[in-house]
Amino acid sequence: MSSVTHQPVDAPLSQAAMYLVLAINPGQAPLDAVRSLCADLSGLVRSVGFRDLESHLSCILGFGSDAWDRLFGAPRPKDLHPFKEIRGEHHAVSTPGDILLHIRAARMDLCFELATQVTSRLGQVVTAVDEVHGFKYFDARNLVGFVDGSENPVGADAVAATVVGDEDAGFAGGSYVIVQKYLHDLAGWNALPVEMQEKIIGRTKQTNIELADDVKPSWAHNALTVIEDEGEELDIVRGNMPFGDAGKGEFGTYFIGYARSPSRIEQMLENMFIGRPPGNYDRLLDFSRAVTGTLFFVPSADFLADAPGFGES
Ligand code: HEM
Repeated sequence: MSSVTHQPVDAPLSQAAMYLVLAINPGQAPLDAVRSLCADLSGLVRSVGFRDLESHLSCILGFGSDAWDRLFGAPRPKDLHPFKEIRGEHHAVSTPGDILLHIRAARMDLCFELATQVTSRLGQVVTAVDEVHGFKYFDARNLVGFVDGSENPVGADAVAATVVGDEDAGFAGGSYVIVQKYLHDLAGWNALPVEMQEKIIGRTKQTNIELADDVKPSWAHNALTVIEDEGEELDIVRGNMPFGDAGKGEFGTYFIGYARSPSRIEQMLENMFIGRPPGNYDRLLDFSRAVTGTLFFVPSADFLADAPGFGES
């Protein structure tokens, strides 16, 4: 494994998170503002985070495919490309986004303060495409009522699943991340018997125990998202959180998956949206609509500290 310092893609589940997707404005936007943010980000996180060290403020900064070329030019991470939409039993849309900020802490005020510091520095250079405030819901449940995140790898396994190594030595220490904002049809979901919900997720609802193989359907969410290469399971690390707007009746899950290669997440998405085999798709999607979908590369912390300034300025 590489000795390059990675961004905190393996940070544990927090109480609060902000997911910001920004677009770099067209034309002569002064891109140096973005490059200098790269270098100063760790200092900003330290300054805001020091005000309550126990809240463990962390921030991840990622870049979309087009933005990479504009900001840094060549060389580029070998697997970085725009998110590929999927049209299967359900539709995984591809939506624009140049910059991703994934901010986590035990307190939303720290997340919000850091987001404000970052966006005020970027000023007129960017426009916010999407901003989601996620919250921990009871015992890390999503709004469909199931505990979310149990099978995430931790420690060295999380790093091995998410951090690029020798396969792209120039970008070792980086990660790929796919985000998708899902809106749930909660009324429809809650009308299902709990036994059917458990079959769809592949775990028990109240006790969060994985269903035994002889009762778990091949279309269960946790069957279709388990993928292997030559008998070895290929993991990703998810930082999903619920979000919502009670007044508007909006109930969502913000999916965010990190991996050392985007193909792992893309394979899972194909299994979910098209089915494995085709038609044997993820029934969670009958009640959950993806309204965004974007792929970013998260360069190593070392790359950010010394970000190159190619491209237009
Ligand atoms: C509506 C959006 C989603 C919801 C509500 C959701 C919820 C869940 C839940 C409750 C679990 C079981 C507990 C756990 O291990 O976390 C799970 C597992 C998992 N999900 Fe999702 N998920 C969503 C989208 C996705 C997407 C888009 C992917 C990948 C592209 C994904 C990948 C996985 C993986 C890899 C597991 C672990 C499977 C295992 O090893 O058992 N999920 N998800």
